[in-house]
Amino acid sequence: MARNSPRKAAPTWLVGEKVRLRPIEPADVTMLQRWINTSPAREFIFSRFPLSLEQEREWVANAAVNPNTPCYIIETPADVDIGIVGLHVEGARAALGIAIHEPRYWARGLGTDAVRTLVDGAFRVRPLIRIELTVFPENARAIRCYERAGFAREGILRRYVYKEGTYRDVLMMSVLHEEWLAGRPRAKRATSRQKSPDRPPR
Ligand SMILES: CC(C)(COP(=O)(O)OP(=O)(O)OC[C@H]1O[C@@H](n2cnc3c(N)ncnc32)[C@H](O)[C@@H]1OP(=O)(O)O)[C@@H](O)C(=O)NCCC(=O)NCCS
Repeated sequence: MARNSPRKAAPTWLVGEKVRLRPIEPADVTMLQRWINTSPAREFIFSRFPLSLEQEREWVANAAVNPNTPCYIIETPADVDIGIVGLHVEGARAALGIAIHEPRYWARGLGTDAVRTLVDGAFRVRPLIRIELTVFPENARAIRCYERAGFAREGILRRYVYKEGTYRDVLMMSVLHEEWLAGRPRAKRATSRQKSPDRPPR
């Protein structure tokens, strides 16, 4: 997003250490359509058909009013929009999805911070018992990111997702509310570079 964009005035809901999560606005539709149709992140996310502008508009309009699908644009401190993170809430469970669509921002710790920030906000404001996600087992960068954010590996769901001609296994991961409250113990165990006893390092 350009620095002088009117969207800069949009309220920011969640602030992490490295990123901010801001609400999706109608003005984001073109960017979101470009991301979902052409971004290199497509390789790692589950099958999606290309979307027309109208379909993307409809998705944004629905996401904006559906309390069970909170979605946010991930923004750097320099106001650059780099991706999207969101939840699909079903009762006491929520499924998390994330994609940083601008690859030059991969592997800089921004994804981990975005996940932590959304998980923390969600556990604060909703009566969730667990937040879960599925990821291709080959997606080592994403799995590492999720582990750093406090998620644990649960197991493989066999032939779970159809993508480009084959049914593929996925890894189920989750973080429980009680684990989050207890200081994200798995995130701490996942690294030896811990600096502080009460929060996992970056
Ligand atoms: C997955 C994603 C959100 C992670 O965000 P990110 O900002 O790139 O991740 P982070 O930098 O926070 O963490 C990545 C970790 O994996 C490590 N890593 C990077 N590339 C790696 C690779 N090829 N193999 C293994 N580990 C790798 C990084 O060093 C880092 O670990 P560290 O903090 O211990 O050094 C982002 O890469 C992305 O959007 N990718 C494309 C779409 C996607 O995969 N979405 C998830 C679908 S389930």
